[in-house]
Amino acid sequence: MRNFPRLLLGALALALPLGHLAALGPPSATAATRVIGGSEVTAADHPWVVAVASREYFGSGRSGQFCGGVLVGRSAVATAAHCFSSEVLGTDVSRVDDLRVVVGRTDLRTDEGREIEVARVWVNPAWDSRTNAGDLAVLTLASPMPAGDVLPMAEKEDPAYAPGTSAGVFGWGDVRGDGSYATTLRKARVSVLEDARCAAAYPGGPAGTYQPESMVCAGLPQGGPDACQGDSGGPLVARGRLVGLVSWGVGCGERDLPGVYTRVGSVRDLIADSGGVS
Ligand code: ARG
Repeated sequence: MRNFPRLLLGALALALPLGHLAALGPPSATAATRVIGGSEVTAADHPWVVAVASREYFGSGRSGQFCGGVLVGRSAVATAAHCFSSEVLGTDVSRVDDLRVVVGRTDLRTDEGREIEVARVWVNPAWDSRTNAGDLAVLTLASPMPAGDVLPMAEKEDPAYAPGTSAGVFGWGDVRGDGSYATTLRKARVSVLEDARCAAAYPGGPAGTYQPESMVCAGLPQGGPDACQGDSGGPLVARGRLVGLVSWGVGCGERDLPGVYTRVGSVRDLIADSGGVS
């Protein structure tokens, strides 16, 4: 995919039907040992990272994982709105009746941890699929998790948004940008970048338009570590707080094309009002 023209990649970054990729089967064991500039971590050490899954639509090989998510309340998982689009699901979200949140499972090939039923799916009605602004969904769990597993959200004007702040992004997504999905949880270390850099990278294109009020971007100026397809909805964490949700980008880890995240400090009221946080 790296050889695809940029424009096409841009369109793919969002429109990629993950179900079709899942049909390629689990990636090789070696693919999971190194990620786009990251390394393996355990779910036990990061209990707030969850996988959003449907075995029926994405196959059981990787527990049905198709997006990431993060526990923001005992029964509330924040994730990305675009995860529930028909482009990703291949169907309407109302038809996915085995939607689960997988907790405490480092390796998706195992039955470690638990698969929790989703009682309610709230997809931000204000999500704009053209710019990607407001890329947020909240899942309500049928049974609550321990309070200690919840990750606090960043405030609106959180110091963690200062450019240069070190942050970690977590997920089971593509490790090379070529459809090699990870089987074990990994983390890449990135930096929060200046809004000007992201605005210059994404002035408006098929993948989205950078909007500093509702987005934050992260990466390294020279490229390298980044989130990728399948990581969407997963957490970007800085100073022990949730600062972003993996949303979009053009390609993965490419120089001057940073990863773009839903700015949690801007949507925390929306998350609270969604009715999913108890
Ligand atoms: N939209 C992708 C997904 O559905 C996430 C892309 C993130 N890309 C990036 N370069 N950070 O999984």
